[in-house]
Amino acid sequence: MKYVSFLKATNFVHNLLINRIPEGSTVIDGTMGNGYDTLFLHEQVGEEGVVYAFDIQKLALERTKEMLIENNIAIDSNRIRLIHDGHENIGQYVKEPISVAMFNLGYLPNGDKEIITQNSTTIQALSAALSLLQARGIISIVIYYGHIGGLEEKQRLMDYVNNLNSSEYTVMQCSYLNKEKNPPIIVLIEKNK
Ligand SMILES: C[S@@+](CC[C@H](N)C(=O)[O-])C[C@H]1O[C@@H](n2cnc3c(N)ncnc32)[C@H](O)[C@@H]1O
Repeated sequence: MKYVSFLKATNFVHNLLINRIPEGSTVIDGTMGNGYDTLFLHEQVGEEGVVYAFDIQKLALERTKEMLIENNIAIDSNRIRLIHDGHENIGQYVKEPISVAMFNLGYLPNGDKEIITQNSTTIQALSAALSLLQARGIISIVIYYGHIGGLEEKQRLMDYVNNLNSSEYTVMQCSYLNKEKNPPIIVLIEKNK
């Protein structure tokens, strides 16, 4: 049995999604950052699947490319599309149904802490991802809110997901109870059949 630690929210989400991403499917990494989620998604969808990964920072694309090259993954293939654009424009790039979209909000670790996700564009991105989500597909959101503007983003996002139609979507929240310093909150949205 594989050991699944709760210590890191991002690992927890990977372990949750691992059996929910069919090989050959299309997936979205809405916040590419250092490329950990892009790599994870590529490993799940395999050579026949497609990963669309978005970030507004060139540095994120460079780091993700490095991460993929280190893992012997061809970055020039059409199977991993590293897109230097905001996730609010998902609809301009992704036309097919998706099995999973991941959003890991906040700033780029070891990067500029002033470049952060913003509530209005995050909600536009979420809405675009929901419209592409196939039945039984999942959207994961890891919300970091300790930085300036983070609390407002968290509140707007919570209001948005709380109001999703329960006959269409199942929405869950997972939060740490005994961690200090604004621990991340995980939100999972599953599209009902
Ligand atoms: C917490 S990091 C993501 C970490 C990443 N998932 C990983 O595996 O390393 C958040 C990222 O969101 C990016 N970001 C901010 N606004 C964005 C937007 N509108 N569209 C896409 N990415 C955005 C930031 O540049 C930053 O790299």
